[in-house]
Amino acid sequence: MGYTIAIAGKGGIGKSTIASLIIRMLKEKKLGSVLGVDADPNSNLGEFLGIKPGRSIGEVLDEISAHKDKIPAGMTKDRYIEYEVQTVIEEGEGVDILAMGRPEGPGCYCYVNNILRNIVGKLIKDYDFVVIDNEAGLEHLSRKTTSSADVLLVVSDPSPAGLRAAKRISDLTLELKIKTKKRFLLINRSAKELDKDKLEGIQLDYLGMIPEDAGIGKLSVAGEPLWELAKGSPAYAALNKLMEKIL
Ligand SMILES: Nc1ncnc2c1ncn2[C@@H]1O[C@H](COP(=O)(O)OP(=O)(O)OP(=O)(O)O)[C@@H](O)[C@H]1O
Ligand SMILES: [Mg+2]
Repeated sequence: MGYTIAIAGKGGIGKSTIASLIIRMLKEKKLGSVLGVDADPNSNLGEFLGIKPGRSIGEVLDEISAHKDKIPAGMTKDRYIEYEVQTVIEEGEGVDILAMGRPEGPGCYCYVNNILRNIVGKLIKDYDFVVIDNEAGLEHLSRKTTSSADVLLVVSDPSPAGLRAAKRISDLTLELKIKTKKRFLLINRSAKELDKDKLEGIQLDYLGMIPEDAGIGKLSVAGEPLWELAKGSPAYAALNKLMEKIL
């Protein structure tokens, strides 16, 4: 059964960056097979890892709707979808990526979420680690794309507004009874550790902080994958120290 790490947080806070660095670290430490799930319809997790995007689940669903005649006789639609989705997993160097995407047709977004949840549920068994890069905001939680995880990692900046957003996400996961074994707050792009009193009322354990890293900025602007980030760079070194608590 794969160890699932779900990353959540508000828009632009660094979810995909941190998801990518965790995936990279799992590979470099040779801890086992890794599936990265890009649950953000404006997907870019693959890009962060230099894996060129293949078809998303959304695109597969569109194709199936447009060519229903292709469903083999004797196969249910759900079974066929499942089979097709297996074929869209992008295989990178030792890490596979599954992108959710969004179907073109209106009103079928929940359907993709259902499929994604079922498929992820099944795929989890085939990998040692599953890292889910969730979309910003709370919608994905309401739709329960993430119904359970070994680790919930809520990413925030150290600002009061950022921490309020992190608390809202954390509270919602509790309200929705999303099953988690470890629940962490990770502060990104900070110059110092968070004061403990700022954690009051937030039902997450403080994991630590990832500093602002000029190397990440440079790669991002150049469109280069995070594999290129120097191992000794401030962000990667900081994550390395936190990894033990995550696993
Ligand atoms: N520790 C860091 N140091 C420097 N730059 C960073 C750091 N973390 C993230 N960034 C930069 O911040 C920007 C947003 O990061 P990222 O795309 O990972 O956020 P996100 O939460 O996934 O955003 P979205 O909600 O749009 O999916 C990127 O340009 C990224 O390179
Ligand atoms: Mg992202």
